[in-house]
Amino acid sequence: MGGPHIPEKMRDMLALYQSKRQSEPVSLDETSGRWQVFGYRDGVTVATDAKRFSNDLSAFIPDHEELKTFTKGNFQAMDDPRHRQMRSLVSQGFTPKFVQGLAPRIEQVATELLDRIRDQGRDRIDLVGDLAHPLPVTVIAEVMGLPVADRHLFRKWADALLVDNGVDALFSEEGVAAMAPSIREMNQYLLSHVREYRASDKAGLIRALVAAETDGRRLDDQEIVGFLALLLIAGHLTTSTMFTNAILCLDENPGAMKEIRADRGLIPDMLEEVLRYRSPLVWLDRRATEDVELGGKRIPEGSLVSVSLVSVGRDESEFKDPDTFDIHREQIRHLAFGMGIHFCLGAPLARMEVRIALNAMLDRYDDFRIPTDEPIVFHDPKDFNGTKYLPLDLVVR
Ligand code: HEM
Repeated sequence: MGGPHIPEKMRDMLALYQSKRQSEPVSLDETSGRWQVFGYRDGVTVATDAKRFSNDLSAFIPDHEELKTFTKGNFQAMDDPRHRQMRSLVSQGFTPKFVQGLAPRIEQVATELLDRIRDQGRDRIDLVGDLAHPLPVTVIAEVMGLPVADRHLFRKWADALLVDNGVDALFSEEGVAAMAPSIREMNQYLLSHVREYRASDKAGLIRALVAAETDGRRLDDQEIVGFLALLLIAGHLTTSTMFTNAILCLDENPGAMKEIRADRGLIPDMLEEVLRYRSPLVWLDRRATEDVELGGKRIPEGSLVSVSLVSVGRDESEFKDPDTFDIHREQIRHLAFGMGIHFCLGAPLARMEVRIALNAMLDRYDDFRIPTDEPIVFHDPKDFNGTKYLPLDLVVR
């Protein structure tokens, strides 16, 4: 199933998914009531056929005041044409040119974080807390125009919404109740910043959204808060996990590490292979808008349908030797960023941040290895595929 840094529970999940892909690639999970999709081709169908598979999951989510305000501008949870209108307001600001222009600042932030480790004289670090998380959270805060000093709050909220309460939290009363305090806090925080921007002439993404129009009208405060919450939550935990997952893969594959040291041009392809092999997000959810035949099953209209991003990346009918981490694969068409109209808006930014962070480490250290005398702490792999704490020993040049 792969290298030594795969926790026991994930190993069991991978074995189960492998047998599911052979015997029942689309299957109903009786406990959760969701239809699970394990094969790559079926996964592509669910992700891209927006007519039969909707992103509006409100039918499964308990009616909760907190959630209503928070989801108003969340275009990930909308279908076209509204999704397209709302997404275009942000995507205009996220052009390749804009993302490219962030490179020098990202390099600077990475350098400052590595300098801090040097100044503290440490040669063992927690890669998550020392670099992988502070880098993207600083970048997304600056892009949005929020105070970087509040980054501990952003991490707390992302943890509460994405990992701490389980991947199904949004679909149960108890889960939503557990998330509600964080949602309320984030909502109030973002609302106060939107109001501040309305009253000032400070530049930035929030300012652009305050001035933006859709349907011939300005966005209201709650819509802007929904936009910001989406970017804030989607924009850092996933990216830091992509980075730490890359380090897990390289540590398991010293040959690949040697190759990228010798030829940095291999890094972009290597990172796509990391996303195939260790997708940070574990499920991609949709609602069937009609009865659908898929993988030999009939999925009834109104069902919750979830693509296992972990399983589709290991589909042997799509990828040769899927359990082998191979940085020389041709055209890695993974689903870790989704596919189709909801394809991840932040993918170019995430790829660039991780590439820059990895290059900064290769420049500065002769070697970095995961120690054997301190355990890695993983998230529960049924919720999120990454580490909470990743010890790393540094060999300084
Ligand atoms: C959408 C994953 C980084 C913002 C998505 C989707 C996936 C994903 C799977 C598709 C959701 C769907 O089809 O329903 C990831 C991963 C990342 C990452 C693995 C890092 C490695 C980012 C960053 C940002 C971001 C850095 C913000 C700057 C978004 C937004 C959407 C999205 C706004 C919704 C797009 C839409 O519905 O049209 N992401 N993401 N993501 N992502 Fe990312």
